Amino acid sequence: MTDPETPMDAAVPTSERIESLIDRLTLEEKIDLIHGGIDPDGLATGYVPPVERLGIPALSMVDGPMGVRDVTATAFPASIALASAWDTDLAYEQGEALGREVLGAGHDVLLAPGFNIVRVPQCGRTFEYYSEDPHLSSRLATETVEGVQDAGAIATAKHYVANNQEQDRHAVSAEVSERALREIYLPAFEAAVEEADVGSVMAAYNQINGTYATEHEWLLSDVLKDEWDFDGYVVSDWWATTDGVAAANAGLDVDMPGVPLHEWHVEGSPVHDLIGTLPDSFPKGTLAKLAASPWLPEGANPNLFEESVFGESLREAVERGKVPETTIDGKVRRVFGQMERFGIFDDDQPDGALDAPEHHDLARRVAERGAVLLRNEEATLPLSEDLDSIAVIGPNAETAKIGGGGSSEVTPAASIGPLSGIRERVDGGTTVEFARGVERIEDPHDAEGGILDLGVSASDGPGLNDDGEVPEIGDAVAAARRVDVTVVVVQDDATESEDRSLWLPGDQDELVARVADVADRTVVVCNTGGPIRMPWAGDVEAIVETWYPGQEDGHVTASVLFGDVDPGGRLPVTFGRRIDDYPAATEERYPGVGLQAEYGEGVFVGYRHFDAENVKPEYPFGHGLSYTDFEYTDVSVKSGDSPEATVEVTVENVGEREGRDVVQVYVGPEDPATPRPPKELAAFESVALEAGGQTTVELEIESRAFAYYDEDDGAWTVPDGEYTIFVGRSARNVLAEASVTVSETTPLE
Ligand code: GLC
Repeated sequence: MTDPETPMDAAVPTSERIESLIDRLTLEEKIDLIHGGIDPDGLATGYVPPVERLGIPALSMVDGPMGVRDVTATAFPASIALASAWDTDLAYEQGEALGREVLGAGHDVLLAPGFNIVRVPQCGRTFEYYSEDPHLSSRLATETVEGVQDAGAIATAKHYVANNQEQDRHAVSAEVSERALREIYLPAFEAAVEEADVGSVMAAYNQINGTYATEHEWLLSDVLKDEWDFDGYVVSDWWATTDGVAAANAGLDVDMPGVPLHEWHVEGSPVHDLIGTLPDSFPKGTLAKLAASPWLPEGANPNLFEESVFGESLREAVERGKVPETTIDGKVRRVFGQMERFGIFDDDQPDGALDAPEHHDLARRVAERGAVLLRNEEATLPLSEDLDSIAVIGPNAETAKIGGGGSSEVTPAASIGPLSGIRERVDGGTTVEFARGVERIEDPHDAEGGILDLGVSASDGPGLNDDGEVPEIGDAVAAARRVDVTVVVVQDDATESEDRSLWLPGDQDELVARVADVADRTVVVCNTGGPIRMPWAGDVEAIVETWYPGQEDGHVTASVLFGDVDPGGRLPVTFGRRIDDYPAATEERYPGVGLQAEYGEGVFVGYRHFDAENVKPEYPFGHGLSYTDFEYTDVSVKSGDSPEATVEVTVENVGEREGRDVVQVYVGPEDPATPRPPKELAAFESVALEAGGQTTVELEIESRAFAYYDEDDGAWTVPDGEYTIFVGRSARNVLAEASVTVSETTPLE
């Protein structure tokens, strides 16, 4: 036995080193390695303190999917904007940049990407996720994770699993079939583990079929660790763990943040600061609980103001034999395994680059690629260079829509809003007027404080006009009358911990309608965190969805509106006409009754439902226009073994300018014995072509695309029969079909 006081010998072979370390650790030290502690710098979102005695370094974790929080960093666009580009290479680039920013900020772990399926458009965190479709989500999740980890940071796949709404998120139980889990909610996590070897997975707040995700043995141990062979660590969502012993035995490895809420660094909260100044003899937890109780969500974790359930109480449970010490060793081993894999033990990590200029360029490129041109009548867009006058209208049109509210918030060093972006773009050659039209929308991204701030969030009030007046729609209408083109920038106010309305907040719908009544041409730019209702859609000439474009908002808006880039985005979520058109349109399904959300729609999520029920969407999944035109020819389908089929399509840009298109391939059984969606996305590719250019894309369809999960057999199954291959530009714009026969029924692993 080496002298236990001798610092770890970095030359010791990795696995031997880890085993040697575990041998030397006391139980108390092991326990301290599997729950969070206080980061002395106060910048880590989650922090596992070092074990100085053995030379074990700290492990520092930081949010989030759109950039590094709590420091000045690149504010990348919303994840749904990245998803709208339908480009796996771009997802990899985005991941790599995020990883570099994390390391540049001095952390080791990125608490992202998040890729819960957008089951309901009201989900408040839709902006932080990718899509309603598991194939698109899987491809993007895999590439983003690979990018983050190739940059040298540990990625965290979140939130495992079926965390599909914010309302009652701490307690709601997703009552969901295994088939829907396997076909819809698990695939992106499965891909992140099996294809990208993700270093950590975050267990969600909610329950799944009555068991909390943090203590769900089937999900954490049977599926994730045994079936998918996951060798990283499972971290809880923040204050998500309710029962330490149950969680430890079920497969949770690390409890975060591991400190009571009133000891966690809640920025700008007067109550938090007050409690912090009290002497330790004070019952701080009780006081904090009292102060926060008016704002605590229903079903909030009772341990919010207590010590970690993976702390002293777990150590006692081990000593009482309720949790084997070998189980604790296994958790430490998983954490150490990732620390070793990413060079943290040997202080051998890349430097990274925080707030790097090349990341600002990437943020712009991702947002431009994610811009979706929903409507463009009379070729209103792109705007011409020789316009005499433009009116830019909107309550927040002068400020960049950086992101949504909550843990994904990022503070960029600089940002540019649509008004400045357009003014900069026309460069004095065109008069650009501005009118707010209606009161500013209070942006949750910019709200101050946290859960202990007595519920008061900063706001800059009604947002007076430049002349100090309360904005009037009349001013905006008058401006619209005067100019050649009116650009109305609307936004919503999505945030974590609350679900979102599909209606624009404030009087924005009235503003658009009144302006459209008088304007020569009206262009609406939507900065929204997901689908919205558009009662004015038929009254305006053009609509562009740019989601939350991040710090480069103004440059993105201008370059898309003036055609410097072709809006290559395609919708990763369906925009329905009415709330009732969506699959989870009953209270039982969403938000649930008695903290139970019935996933009664099964696998019929998103366009799967719209197709199966033949409901016409406002804008379908995969929809997006271009400034040029494309034709598909020479579509051919070859059956094979692996891949199951290969689709070849020749795409030609038959327009007058360069542009981008996304070729989409769907598969659907022609006469299924089991209820199955009419078509499901199986492959896609984004192509850029000069005017007159053409390319032939080859898309591989794996056998899983033909399969459904048979709960009775507990296996993926491809029934014999005919399958249609749909090739098109959206779920509702199919340009070619082909039929393939699958003749053998072979259970798939
Ligand atoms: C939050 C979020 C999670 C985030 C974590 C740390 O509640 O659910 O996405 O990474 O806590 O901020």
